[in-house]
Amino acid sequence: MNQENLSRRRVIGGLGMGLAAMAVPGALARQESSPTTESASEKADIGDMAPHLNFSLQGKSAFVTGAARGIGRAICVALAASGADVMGLDICAVAAPNLVYPPATPEELEQTGKLVEQQKRRWIGLKGDIRDMNTLRSAVDRAVKDFGKLDIAVANAAIQIYGPLAQMPDENWKNVIDVNLNGTANTLRAVLPHMLERKCGRVVIIASGQGRHGFKNGSAYSASKWGVIGLMKSAAWEVAKNGITVNCVEPGLVDTPLTRNPGRWAEALKEAGKEVKGTPTEQEVIAARLPQSVMGIPWMQPDEVAPAVVFLCTDAANRVTGATYDATAGDSVKYTA
Ligand SMILES: NC(=O)c1ccc[n+]([C@@H]2O[C@H](COP(=O)([O-])OP(=O)(O)OC[C@H]3O[C@@H](n4cnc5c(N)ncnc54)[C@H](O)[C@@H]3O)[C@@H](O)[C@H]2O)c1
Repeated sequence: MNQENLSRRRVIGGLGMGLAAMAVPGALARQESSPTTESASEKADIGDMAPHLNFSLQGKSAFVTGAARGIGRAICVALAASGADVMGLDICAVAAPNLVYPPATPEELEQTGKLVEQQKRRWIGLKGDIRDMNTLRSAVDRAVKDFGKLDIAVANAAIQIYGPLAQMPDENWKNVIDVNLNGTANTLRAVLPHMLERKCGRVVIIASGQGRHGFKNGSAYSASKWGVIGLMKSAAWEVAKNGITVNCVEPGLVDTPLTRNPGRWAEALKEAGKEVKGTPTEQEVIAARLPQSVMGIPWMQPDEVAPAVVFLCTDAANRVTGATYDATAGDSVKYTA
């Protein structure tokens, strides 16, 4: 929370205490407490004792990585629909050898920009790699210059390569960790200095269900996504007293180019205990997944994940930090981590 926000909450807390107390029993108890307790709680930031229901991002600006398509695009559009200007960065090229799905293109990034602009918000599209600190630092400088400030960062870009751990080529392990874990850490390292200076900010990292439970042949991806949850928790602690929140959103299986491909479908069949014969078809995968699906759908759509990200960027989520929010269509019932 920034100073402005903090003092606003204190002032409202003073003036509106009677009103808030009528609605919130806890507030009444505090109002009736002894003068000593009152002066102690005066010193603490106890908020304004009123429900925070501001879900608007009007006047905010956001930076989203992996913005050209899939979940990143849906996040850009949802942030814009909630009122934020958006800068989207994407590599728009082959991010690593051995990916079994097609790379994003500059045209797809442009299309994300058009969808943001349809929401009557400003858009800046940049081609760049999250493995490169200089690229990220200049992206932040540009956002600050053009938008005036940067309130929100969503570290979404990632890649996925399957393979058994014992036989995995070195470069596959290295590339997955480099993009998903190091690239995500780079994104935070690039945005946090600006947010620390302003004493406010919202950071959301896109983790994965596969970062909360194991996945056969998915060790590199799984390790990278467990890693970003640890990164999030430590970063959240470091910056919390500077008014910055850091959280993860953890999607279940979502229909995007990363998953809509025969390689990923084969892994989904194996996960369901099916034998993979030849190239899997969509119908085969749907039939295999449905009996496992808590909500009775084979996979989610990107725009069903984005609202959780928006929430974590709003004033309503002021006190949410160090947390992993699941948007999994119910897969979360199956694990505790
Ligand atoms: N699709 C799913 O089922 C699913 C499930 C859980 C988590 N996720 C996570 O959601 C996020 C988005 O995935 P998606 O499914 O939309 O995938 P996607 O492949 O459709 O989109 C990822 C985007 O990131 C970009 N990108 C990759 N490497 C980059 C790099 N080094 N620098 C900059 N941009 C880079 C790609 O070009 C692409 O546009 C990822 O973090 C992924 O791990 C996806």
